[in-house]
Amino acid sequence: MIKKSLLYLFFYFSLYGLKAQTFKFSKDFLWCSATAAHQIEGNNINSDWWQWEQKKGAIKNNERSGIACDHWNRVDEDIALMKNLNLNAYRFSLSWSKIEPKEGFFDELAIDHYKEEINKLLEKNIEPIVTLHHFVHPHWFTSSGGWYRDDAVEIFKRFLHKVYSSLGSKVKWWTTINEPMVLIGGGYIEGLMPPGRKDFSIKKPLVNLMKTHAMSYQYLHKKAEIEGRKIYVGLAHHIRFLEASRKWNPLDIIASKISNWIFNYMIPEALATGEIKLTIPFVVHINEKIEGLKNTQDYIGLNYYTRELIEVSLLDFQVKRKYHKDKLLSDLNWEHYPQGLAIITQDYSKLFPKIPFLITENGVADSKDWLRKQFIKEHLEQIEKLEAQGHQFLGYCYWSLMDNFEWIEGFSPRFGLYEMDYKTQTRKLRPSAKYFKQLILNHHNFSSQEVVLPPKN
Ligand code: BGC
Repeated sequence: MIKKSLLYLFFYFSLYGLKAQTFKFSKDFLWCSATAAHQIEGNNINSDWWQWEQKKGAIKNNERSGIACDHWNRVDEDIALMKNLNLNAYRFSLSWSKIEPKEGFFDELAIDHYKEEINKLLEKNIEPIVTLHHFVHPHWFTSSGGWYRDDAVEIFKRFLHKVYSSLGSKVKWWTTINEPMVLIGGGYIEGLMPPGRKDFSIKKPLVNLMKTHAMSYQYLHKKAEIEGRKIYVGLAHHIRFLEASRKWNPLDIIASKISNWIFNYMIPEALATGEIKLTIPFVVHINEKIEGLKNTQDYIGLNYYTRELIEVSLLDFQVKRKYHKDKLLSDLNWEHYPQGLAIITQDYSKLFPKIPFLITENGVADSKDWLRKQFIKEHLEQIEKLEAQGHQFLGYCYWSLMDNFEWIEGFSPRFGLYEMDYKTQTRKLRPSAKYFKQLILNHHNFSSQEVVLPPKN
């Protein structure tokens, strides 16, 4: 324990006075921060998550999202916070449950709210990156079968159509679905989030989510083509670097390889081939060709946080997820392991040789702000190295703009560039955020001095 505190103190002080370096990314690099509607807006009363939070024991300390960061009423203030950081992009999600609180009924005020938010961002030269689906659904959708419904894709299309016709032509960057495998794992296999199932009947929801991604990609591109606009549509993959906990143990090795394939590669392979495949004998069998799915990413969205160790327990025959205890860990005990990002990027580049990457999320729960500076610095250094090897990155979204409601963990994890005082709803810039801000400024200065050579004849 003492050893670990000393280690943290060492990093804290050695990086305290660290001068922000200059990353030599492209001129248009997106310096971004990410959030999700349910985690910051507040009062998402018609959502399945709101219902879920009412159940005793569902959320740590029985916390509820409540008014969260009251972002719904503080859009101007929060855009000013982004501007203060020199951000030129902001990734956020639309709350489907606020836009369509009852099946087929759209709340025009809610749509106008987002339209205004997008206008305000654009006025400040902040590119909106709009996520259509980030874990949360209207309660009516989940309670009527959700992703098991035969018409789920059509229902989502109706929502998308409504959204697009009101605000779509202003948006250049779209994320269709945030982390489908986290939703499938957490909501269907582990039962930790709505709809709270605990079995492997994941075929229908998984296939429907992939169909929804494909439908959204095609829909958005068709619209943009008619309008003569270039847009970027992708999906945010949560990638975790998964390894065997005990390198000598064949069970850990096999389990880690299987988990790694299911969690990190099954969906990317489906996007590369147009077919989703998963067979675990006697448990699940999926082999489905999805029309219009192949090559539906203009960028590969990566949400990268950590490395996990996979261990098979012979006591209860469970596959357990663990973390290195002797490494730098976040408040959630997630290991600081920037190298994992490089390894997975190199792998994904083989699947999608010509598609650029966008870091749609990368961040650390660190209430004392001991690690955040190092975390940001070392992940950006990985990106810089990867670019030197020929991998292209369009931008980097730090998760998150401010501390927020961290799903089943409640409010205790502190991921924000701004520290939240939830009682007074005040936001305070963290020292690491000042560092991030300076990095962005250095890059702006660098890219504005970039010499553009005339084309050779
Ligand atoms: C999710 C965020 C979440 C973050 C930190 C990502 O998996 O997209 O909603 O807050 O990780 O746990």
